Amino acid sequence: MKVLVTGGSGFIGSHVVDKLRDKAIEVRVYDVVIPTFRKDIEFYQGSILDRAALGFAMSGVDAVMHLAAVADVKDVFEDPYYAESINVRGTINVLEAVRCSKVNKMIYGSTTWVYSEASEDRVTESTPLHAPSHFYTATKLAGEYYCQTYSKLYGLDVTILRYGIPYGPRARDGAVIPIFVEKALNGKPITIAGDGSQFRKFIYVEDLAEGNVMALKSTARNKIYNLDGNEKITIKQIAESIQKILGNVRIEHIPGRPGDFSGKEVSCELAKKELGWRPKVSFEKGLSKYIEWYKERESSRNLDKKKIDELLER
Ligand SMILES: NC(=O)c1ccc[n+]([C@@H]2O[C@H](COP(=O)([O-])OP(=O)(O)OC[C@H]3O[C@@H](n4cnc5c(N)ncnc54)[C@H](O)[C@@H]3O)[C@@H](O)[C@H]2O)c1
Repeated sequence: MKVLVTGGSGFIGSHVVDKLRDKAIEVRVYDVVIPTFRKDIEFYQGSILDRAALGFAMSGVDAVMHLAAVADVKDVFEDPYYAESINVRGTINVLEAVRCSKVNKMIYGSTTWVYSEASEDRVTESTPLHAPSHFYTATKLAGEYYCQTYSKLYGLDVTILRYGIPYGPRARDGAVIPIFVEKALNGKPITIAGDGSQFRKFIYVEDLAEGNVMALKSTARNKIYNLDGNEKITIKQIAESIQKILGNVRIEHIPGRPGDFSGKEVSCELAKKELGWRPKVSFEKGLSKYIEWYKERESSRNLDKKKIDELLER
C-alpha cells in the first residue's frame, strides 16, 4: 500500500509519515516545504493549488491523507483570503485529484474546534454544529462539507478526523506548552493568568498520528472520528509538570482574563470502539519527550551558530 500525505513536512504530517513507515506502508509526501525530519521518503514538491502537479502526485497511490493547510489560527486571522485559498480551494483540488485518479480513499485532517459553538459541554461526532466564530474553523468546516458531498455525489471513500490540540516534538513555537518550556529553559518565570484552573485536553502528536493510520481501516469508510486526549490538563498543571521535569522553575500568577474559554469535553468513544484507537502517552511522558526534543533542537542550533562564527573568523 502507498499513501500520499499532503502537508507531510509539517508538525502532524511528519509524525503521520513516521507511523505509516512503522507499519511498512509506503509514503509519498506532497508539500511546498522539503521534509527535514527524514531522508528516506519519496517527496513531490508542489502546492495543493497546482491541480496538474497534484494529479501527477496521485499516480500509484492507494490513499491520500490530506493535512496541508494554513493551520495556525494567527496566520488565518492575519490573511483570511490566503487561508481560504489553501484550506478550502486546496481541499477541493485534492478531492478532485482523488476523484479523477484511481485512489480509493481520502482522510481529511479537521479539528475539534468545529464544536466551539456547540451548546453542549460534552460533544460527540453527532453533536449538531453551529456557525463558527473563527474563520479558521469556517475553512476547516467547509473542507469537511466538501469531503461529505464528494462522498455522496461521487462515491468517494472519505474519513474525517477531528483532531484535538496536539503537542510534542516538532511542534511550532507559539502555543502554550512551547511558550512555557521556552521560558523555563531560559530562566524566565512561567506566568499564569488567574488561578490556572482553565483546562484543555492535549493530544500527544504520535498518538494522533497513530489515529490517522488506524483510519485506513475499512470500517472508517465515510465516517467522522474525534481524536483527542483523555486527560484534562489545567494551565497550572502544565506549569507544575514543567517545574517537576526541569526543577528550579518559577511560576507567577497575573490577573485572569475574563471569559477565558475552558474547552469542551470531546468524546473519542467512537474511535475507540470502531478503530481500536486510544491515546497511549500520558501528559507527563509526552511533555518530557517534547522537552528533550526542544533541548536537542536548541543545542544543535547553538552548535550551528558556533560553527558559522568559527568559519567566518578563519
Ligand atoms: N496544530 C494544530 O493545533 C491542529 C489542530 C487541529 C487540526 N489541525 C489540522 O491538522 C493539519 C496539519 O496541521 P499542522 O499542525 O501539522 O500544521 P503545519 O503548519 O505544521 O503543517 C501544514 C503543512 O502544510 C503545508 N502546506 C501549506 N500550504 C501548502 C500548499 N499550498 N501546498 C502544499 N502544502 C502546503 C506546509 O508547508 C506544512 O508542511 C491541518 O489541516 C490543520 O488544520 C491542526
